Amino acid sequence: MLRAAYIRFKQLLPRSLRNALSGINQRLFARRTIERKYGAWFDVDWRKKFRTMPDADWIAAYDAVWQNHHNNCTDETDAAMIIAALGGAPHQGLETNTERKHHVQSVLEVGCGAGSLAIAMAEAGFRVTCVDVSSEALRKAAERAQTLGLQGEREITWQQGFAEALPFADKSFDAITCCHTLEHVRDLETTVRELKRVARKRIVVVVPRQEYRLYAENYHTQFFSTPEQLSSAFGLPRSETRELNYVGRDNEFQDEALLYIGFVE
Ligand SMILES: C[S@@+](CC[C@H](N)C(=O)[O-])C[C@H]1O[C@@H](n2cnc3c(N)ncnc32)[C@H](O)[C@@H]1O
Repeated sequence: MLRAAYIRFKQLLPRSLRNALSGINQRLFARRTIERKYGAWFDVDWRKKFRTMPDADWIAAYDAVWQNHHNNCTDETDAAMIIAALGGAPHQGLETNTERKHHVQSVLEVGCGAGSLAIAMAEAGFRVTCVDVSSEALRKAAERAQTLGLQGEREITWQQGFAEALPFADKSFDAITCCHTLEHVRDLETTVRELKRVARKRIVVVVPRQEYRLYAENYHTQFFSTPEQLSSAFGLPRSETRELNYVGRDNEFQDEALLYIGFVE
């Protein structure tokens, strides 16, 4: 309640004042507040060490996140928005075979977490494959999908792996979704190259709109403060970027974000 009021109040301030307040918080309080809030499992110094962290430690850190904290950034509204960004659910309003041929049918969800978006896409009729570094996230997501009865044609394929080295052949999927995950990767350039390599038609990305801060309640490593930063990271000749605002919505994530749709073909 108090947090929500504070977030709304901050939204009313000009960006420069918000940044100044955040700077003061970083210097004086942030590290200690985060340590007290999360305890030993959360690595408050992540941003100082992520570049040289071995893969096994990266996986263990995200497993600990999923054991201690339920993180579900993509809510139902996002899922509807992302399905629209994919061009709509498969077969929806499509008359001819040519129309169907150009439509997205298969999707790779990169950094699926607890699987909300993957499940919504499978329910909408897409063939969905998911990849995440954390076996704990994949276990939770697969359990939810099973409880919801997603079997047969709607069954989701789950695979452990890094976004920087996707375990799939070139052009394996019509579309890639990567929502609230690109800001977590160790190497942005390699990840973007991988997303473009495995996509046939579209890449849909959601990232928070953020400035760099040393201490934060998350393991973000990449920061996007303008829509241009995102479109230039992908460098696709045709793309769209939209500005989103999640403040006041029923969502764990309470901030501004960017939606990117890149057209590969
Ligand atoms: C904030 S969660 C987003 C989950 C989900 N996409 C959503 O919107 O609710 C970020 C996810 O990225 C995963 N992750 C972190 N680093 C990764 C990497 N290098 N490659 C693949 N997944 C990664 C984490 O395990 C976590 O599940």
